[in-house]
Amino acid sequence: MITAEQVLEALRGVKDPELDRSLVELNMIRNIQIDGTTVSLDVILTIQGCPLKVKIGEDVEDAIKALGAEKVHVTFGSMTDEERATLSQKLRNPGQQTGNSDLLSPSSKTTFIAVASGKGGVGKSTVTVNLAVSLARLGKKVGIIDADIYGFSVPDMMGIEQRPVVIDETILPVERFGVKVMSMGFFVDDNAPVVWRGPILGKMLRNFFHEVHWGELDYLLLDLPPGTGDVALDVHQIIPQSKEIIVTTPHATAAFVAARAGAMAIHTTKHELLGVVENMSWYETRDGEHDYVFGRGGGQKLAEELQVELLAQIPLRAPDNGDPNDPLFSPSIYDAEHPTGKLYQQLAENVVAKS
Ligand SMILES: Nc1ncnc2c1ncn2[C@@H]1O[C@H](COP(=O)(O)OP(=O)(O)O)[C@@H](O)[C@H]1O
Ligand SMILES: [Mg+2]
Repeated sequence: MITAEQVLEALRGVKDPELDRSLVELNMIRNIQIDGTTVSLDVILTIQGCPLKVKIGEDVEDAIKALGAEKVHVTFGSMTDEERATLSQKLRNPGQQTGNSDLLSPSSKTTFIAVASGKGGVGKSTVTVNLAVSLARLGKKVGIIDADIYGFSVPDMMGIEQRPVVIDETILPVERFGVKVMSMGFFVDDNAPVVWRGPILGKMLRNFFHEVHWGELDYLLLDLPPGTGDVALDVHQIIPQSKEIIVTTPHATAAFVAARAGAMAIHTTKHELLGVVENMSWYETRDGEHDYVFGRGGGQKLAEELQVELLAQIPLRAPDNGDPNDPLFSPSIYDAEHPTGKLYQQLAENVVAKS
């Protein structure tokens, strides 16, 4: 004879895929009734029309059948506003319930890496998303905050079309290629321009830390806006322990402008510089020659000036990764097998060794 305790125990192993917590811990299992080998129960989802309903239902059924039940009847319900508020509270203060540490608490194990550049268009976002995916390919738990609030581009670059799930006041980041992503782009309709000013930007950024359920992360990368504006200072205030990578092209003036971002890291925000990434370093011709279309040596010179390592040189080359109709298509992510993908993998290993 199966007991309700056994059912609950079995369901402890079943997680809500989005929240990555057990259904039992989330208080989503109610009203278990057992009649011989038939088990009926209610599964209370966070929102009505939860897209993962089918998956959750199957997992619940499998877990209960493994106890010897022949029939499982699942009735779905959805939480009341009050229940959602309680859950949201619980997710936001995980320390109280599970001993997990908050991302920003002193005991946090998360390494923060801000990716900065002197100016736009040098490939800062491309480097951010590919470094993140490569760290995830190494088995790390990785998040990205698209802190380029006006110029957000991370969701498009990674081919993300869905929007985050919001439970009461807690936002769940969108996961893609094993990387959790939060971007202003998720909250702006139809690519409308964002016109908020300084203080609001800082507030948005803070929300991305405090109101987003990140779970445990090894690395959180921040795609900063280009230049040396307020957001870099805000990032410093929120995460003074952040490390920083500077992206430049090989062109002498680009490196000169990037040096200002580097100087800001050293003198103003006192972020530890992990090093320089030179992007668009050369174009490889058909016969394997390097054509230095944007000049040469900017990354090395900048690294010397800032007294840090030149972490990688990434050539000009498109990801050429297939069919835009493929659900896994992403315009800017290089496959692991792509020559540039391999360079990013080395960069990720380099970063892990340094942080
Ligand atoms: N190594 C590269 N090879 C080819 N195209 C690149 C490379 N790096 C960046 N790009 C392209 O250059 C443009 C600018 O890159 P992006 O990452 O958006 O720069 P930023 O974030 O610094 O403004 C994008 O269209 C991007 O796809
Ligand atoms: Mg960008």
